[in-house]
Amino acid sequence: MKKFLTTFISFVAITALAQTKSLENKAVWYDTDGNVINCHGMGMLEHKGVYYMYGEYKLGESVTRDGEKNPNAVMGGVSCYSSRDMMNWKFEGVVLKPVTDDPEHDLHPSKVVERPKVIYNKRTKKFVMWAHVETRDYAKACAGVAVADKPTGPFKYLGSFRPNDSMSRDQTLFVDDDGTAYQFSSSEENQTMHINRLTPDYLKPDGSFVRRFVGMSREAPAVFKHDGRYYIITSGCTGWSPNKAEIAVADSIFGEWTTLGNPCIGPDAEKTFMGQSTYVQLLPNGHFLACFDMWKSRNLPDSRYIWLPIEMGGDMPTITWRESLEPLAKYEGD
Ligand code: GAL
Repeated sequence: MKKFLTTFISFVAITALAQTKSLENKAVWYDTDGNVINCHGMGMLEHKGVYYMYGEYKLGESVTRDGEKNPNAVMGGVSCYSSRDMMNWKFEGVVLKPVTDDPEHDLHPSKVVERPKVIYNKRTKKFVMWAHVETRDYAKACAGVAVADKPTGPFKYLGSFRPNDSMSRDQTLFVDDDGTAYQFSSSEENQTMHINRLTPDYLKPDGSFVRRFVGMSREAPAVFKHDGRYYIITSGCTGWSPNKAEIAVADSIFGEWTTLGNPCIGPDAEKTFMGQSTYVQLLPNGHFLACFDMWKSRNLPDSRYIWLPIEMGGDMPTITWRESLEPLAKYEGD
């Protein structure tokens, strides 16, 4: 029995190690301890040569309660993983912890915290997290803000609100070259995107905002900038089920934004390869990496990841299906 156990453990460890060499899209991903990576609706932050990935730490079973449209798992807080090469991810812990002793608290495990994004404020030297904070019936539609002195937290929760008194569900953050930050959020019952400029400390909206993609039901925003132009990848609005992605471009961040079409090419391209956008990260070689969630509504903690490079040439950016994410070095000098 002992021998069997040792062999079994070595097998699991070797399998886990093998997994870290290249990341297979839609497969289970393991951290450097051999545990399953639990980091959904993620965002990334590069700080001093280290990539930090933050996401929803989903626990338990996916269940639909009375009056809820969609199933949800137990809210386990926001996890953080770090890496220098985007392949080997070290678990840094749950950096925004659930609050277990107050059922009314935004961070109680019975609530919903989605799409956390962290940005660094050079002036205040703080790491600022914004997330979509919800009740299980998705009626709250608020943004929650937390702050930390280090990228690995702990993040101190400051509370939630509706930016500019408007609903805020799927959301992301974007910091422009001049250090001004913006929150993009699906507002007005997910019909219209709001682009909210933030105060210099990044903790609140500064009151300047625009309504864009009016009535177009765009969700899952992922924003990036290339050659002085702004791009946004979004999904349609079908809950955990995949739909067609769209990419849009603008010459200034508040727009006008022009929709270019579906950037995905390959199997299931009409359904974003069965995924949904969450973040775009700039790599050291100037390439962009598009990150998607493949949700498993019946077992949300087992939801998977799809990471694909964006090709920027031609009339519009495109994202072609690949089985795996090759080591970062492969993209250098491409
Ligand atoms: C999606 C959204 C996810 C999650 C889900 C709940 O539309 O992008 O982040 O909120 O709905 O059903």
